[in-house]
Amino acid sequence: DPLWLVVPAAGQGRRMEADRPKQYLTLLGRPLLVHTLERLYSAFPDARLMLCLDDDDHWFAEEWVPFADWQRVTGGEERMDSVLNALAAIDAGDDDLVLVHDVARPCVTREDLLALHQAVQRHAAGALLAMPVADTMKRASPSGASLCSEPRDALWHALTPQGFRYRQLHRALVEARNRHTLVTDEASAVEALGDAPQLVSGRRDNLKVTHPDDLALAAAILTSQRATTER
Ligand code: CTP
Ligand code: MG
Repeated sequence: DPLWLVVPAAGQGRRMEADRPKQYLTLLGRPLLVHTLERLYSAFPDARLMLCLDDDDHWFAEEWVPFADWQRVTGGEERMDSVLNALAAIDAGDDDLVLVHDVARPCVTREDLLALHQAVQRHAAGALLAMPVADTMKRASPSGASLCSEPRDALWHALTPQGFRYRQLHRALVEARNRHTLVTDEASAVEALGDAPQLVSGRRDNLKVTHPDDLALAAAILTSQRATTER
């Protein structure tokens, strides 16, 4: 099946508190975005890329994109709007596969990308990289008192990529927008329609660079990944 990659990269990175959006911060000598695109390219060199960027973005350089077939798309107000803009611009078949991956996750490995791709082909409801919760989970009162512990065996962290058939993903996100529900990942929108995407256990180091400390952490992860395997 034809494969499309949607990479939302139109955020401002406010929690990062840097002088530019986090996708342009230097990570091991190169913009963070370049690492992410190269990881995707190493797994899916023939995929078609839709890259969501802010219209006022003056940091971006086209030569950073390794894909032969790619398109720039205007980002939206929220992450889901950026993804919807990309889907609207895609000339996809209903059953084409679409993988959505946060630009802010440069440490995703080729192995995890390929595992997720396989799962998406096998599961009609789609699939997402995820990781089982390791810590004890507490339910808090509004004032921050610990009220009880939640059984953690059924709890997972949702990562990206998340992959679906084009028609299913488009319908789910349009529905979410029409209902004015703010979804922070694609799986939430799909679940709201009653489908149950498959959780694919991924590596714990698929960090989403979010806070200032995360940049040094991402550099350490990339360095140690390079030391252990050729990627
Ligand atoms: N994103 C996007 N369009 C938006 C908002 C976010 O394409 N309107 C992208 C970001 O670039 C990022 C991903 O969605 O790759 C996940 O969002 P997040 O980690 O929240 O990034 P930012 O929104 O940039 O950061 P913050 O929330 O701290 O401002
Ligand atoms: Mg955000």
